[in-house]
Amino acid sequence: MSVRPVLRIGHPLLLQAAQAVAQFSTPSLHALVEDLFDTMQAADGAGLAATQIGVMQRVVVFGFEHNARYPDRDAVPITVLINPEIQVLDDTLEEDWEGCLSVPDMRGLVARPPRIRYRGFDAEGGIVEREVEGFHARLVQHECDHLDGILYPQRITDMRQFGFEEELFDEPPEAEDAC
Ligand code: NI
Repeated sequence: MSVRPVLRIGHPLLLQAAQAVAQFSTPSLHALVEDLFDTMQAADGAGLAATQIGVMQRVVVFGFEHNARYPDRDAVPITVLINPEIQVLDDTLEEDWEGCLSVPDMRGLVARPPRIRYRGFDAEGGIVEREVEGFHARLVQHECDHLDGILYPQRITDMRQFGFEEELFDEPPEAEDAC
């Protein structure tokens, strides 16, 4: 379908909560999902929320295949997740660097629970339910935050751990981390 412009931090829609999807399997929902994947892939991102393209519905897409350049990183299945709910399974916190297509070229250290169960629907209304950990768990929490109008810089506790990638790291981080 089409690659849509990604809203950047400062745009008021990124701070608003999205509405639950009421009807599945509609042409407009399928078109939205297709645009989200096209936009995510064009930007080399690992995930994208509908709010990031200014559509205020509770729809996120994420996932990537195993990448030969980054063999240590496990693949995350290509997923559409609608009206998601997250249950934290381990409420200790783990820190890792995050990036966001709406906060380009920057990274911040964010603490999140490392293990979650998430549940939601695909575009046909089928149930999607998984227990995940590590980067997969972080990615889903980051995307679901977008649906509540939360950007990762709001979750940084030590603002000294926030900045431009090029200043923070000797080696550029994985492009596909951004979501
Ligand atoms: Ni993001």
